[in-house]
Amino acid sequence: MGARLKRTSSGRVRRQYRATDPGSGVLITVRRAIEAHQGGELDTAETLYHRALQMKAGQPDALHFLGVLCHQRGRSEEAIRLIRMALRVTPQHADAHNNLGNVHKETGNLAEAEACYRSALACNAHHQDALGNLVVVLEAQQRPEDALQVCSALIAQAPQLGRAHYLMGVHLRRYGCEIEDMERAIACFRSAIRCDSMNVSALDALGVMLYTLDRYDEAIGVYRDWLGREPNNPVPRHMLAACGGAAAPLRADDAYVRHVFDGFADSFDEQLLKNLDYHAPQILVDALLGVLAVPTGMLDVLDAGCGTGLCGPLIRSHAQRLDGVDLSGGMIEKARLRGNYDALMVAELTAYLQDNPATWDVVLSADTLVYFGDLLAVLSGAYSALRPGGWVAFTLEAMDGEAVGAELSSSGRYRHARHYVEQVLGSVGFGEVTIAEAAMRKEMGRPVAGWVVLARRSARQGG
Ligand SMILES: C[S@@+](CC[C@H](N)C(=O)[O-])C[C@H]1O[C@@H](n2cnc3c(N)ncnc32)[C@H](O)[C@@H]1O
Repeated sequence: MGARLKRTSSGRVRRQYRATDPGSGVLITVRRAIEAHQGGELDTAETLYHRALQMKAGQPDALHFLGVLCHQRGRSEEAIRLIRMALRVTPQHADAHNNLGNVHKETGNLAEAEACYRSALACNAHHQDALGNLVVVLEAQQRPEDALQVCSALIAQAPQLGRAHYLMGVHLRRYGCEIEDMERAIACFRSAIRCDSMNVSALDALGVMLYTLDRYDEAIGVYRDWLGREPNNPVPRHMLAACGGAAAPLRADDAYVRHVFDGFADSFDEQLLKNLDYHAPQILVDALLGVLAVPTGMLDVLDAGCGTGLCGPLIRSHAQRLDGVDLSGGMIEKARLRGNYDALMVAELTAYLQDNPATWDVVLSADTLVYFGDLLAVLSGAYSALRPGGWVAFTLEAMDGEAVGAELSSSGRYRHARHYVEQVLGSVGFGEVTIAEAAMRKEMGRPVAGWVVLARRSARQGG
C-alpha cells in the first residue's frame, strides 16, 4: 500500500463530506466506512462500503474508496475496476484520477499512471498531489527534462510545499554532474525540511548527501535535529552513531534493521543487482562449494539474514534442507515468493542460532554480519548451531590496512579488521579459517572492499 495513496484519499474525503447531505443514510454509511478506513479498520470499512453500495448502487465515493482499500489489500485489479466505475459516475473527480494513477504507479504501469495524473490535472490544474506524483512517474520513465519542468511548475505553484523541494532535490542528486548541483540538492532538502519539519524523506536524503560529501559535522547536526523531533526513531539514532556523533552500538539494533529492510524489501533486488553491482551471494557460495567434502544435496543449510533470498537459488541444489532467517518480515515475504526455502523465520539472528543447537551443516550469511560490530555473540551462536564438522561462511566489509577491531562507518554498516575476525573465530573454537579479499558491491560507483570468510567447527563431537 502506498502511504501517499492513503493520505491523499483520507484528506480529501473529509472535505468532501462537509459539502454533501449529512442526513442521507447512504452518506452516513459511507462516512462511517471512511472513518473506519482512516482508523485502519479495514474489515469494518470494507463491509460498510459494500453496505453503502447495496443501499445505492454506483455510489461514487463508496466505489472510489473501496477501490483504494482493495489496492491496500493487494487486490489491485479490483481496485482499478472500482475506481474506473466511480469515474464513470463523476468523471471530473481529480482525486479519483490521482488515486487511480497511484494504483497504476504502484503496480508498475507507469504510462497508465502518467495518463491518470494528467487527467487529474485536467480536472484541477492545481492538484499538488497529482503534480508531485507526475514528477515521480516521469523520473521513473527516465524523462528527466519533463520531470524537471513539472517539478519547477509545482514549486512555482506551491513554494511552501515540502514535497516539491524534496522532489527537486532528488532530481538534482540523480542527474546533477557538478558539485554545484549537489549543493543545490542540499539546499532543496533543507527547504523541504523548513516547509515541513517532519519530512522524513528529506531529512534522510539530507543526512546521506552530507556524509557522502564528507561533511560529517553537518550530517551529525541533521541527525541530532531529527532525533530531537522523533526521539524513538531508530534511523537517526543509528545514523548519528554512524557519523561519529554518538557511541556505536555493538550491533545495529533490531528496530533499525526492521525499519530499513521492511522499507527496502520491494526495491532491494533491483537496487542491489542493478545499481550496486552486488554479487556477495555468488562469491560466497562459490567459496563454500570449494571447501565442502559432502556430496551435494546432503546438507542442512541455514541462510542467516536471508533477506529476499538471493542465496536461495545458488545453494538450493546442494541442500537437503534449506532454512532462512531474517529480522525483516518484508524481506522474508520476498524470499517466500522465490520458493527455494523449506522454512523461513522472522527472528533475530543471534537468538535464533542460540535456540537451535547442532542443527545445520552450513550457516551461510551474505552481507548480514555487516550489521554486527561485535561478532563474538553471533559467531558463538553459529558455532553452537552447527553440527560437528559444519561450516560457517560469511561476508564482511573490510577495514583498511593494519586497523584493529571493527568500526561503524557512515554508510550505517560495520567494517571489520582481518585480525579481529581471526581472533573472534579462534576464541569461539572455529578452525580451518580462510579469509579472502573480494569486492562484492559498489558504493557511489566505487567497489567496496570486503572479506569472504570460511571457518569450520571441529569434526569431533563436543569439539
Ligand atoms: C544486505 S541484506 C542481505 C540479504 C541477503 N543475505 C543477500 O545477500 O541478499 C542484510 C539482511 O540482514 C538482515 N539482518 C540484519 N541484522 C539482522 C539480525 N540481527 N537478525 C536477523 N537478520 C538481520 C536484514 O534484515 C537484511 O535482510
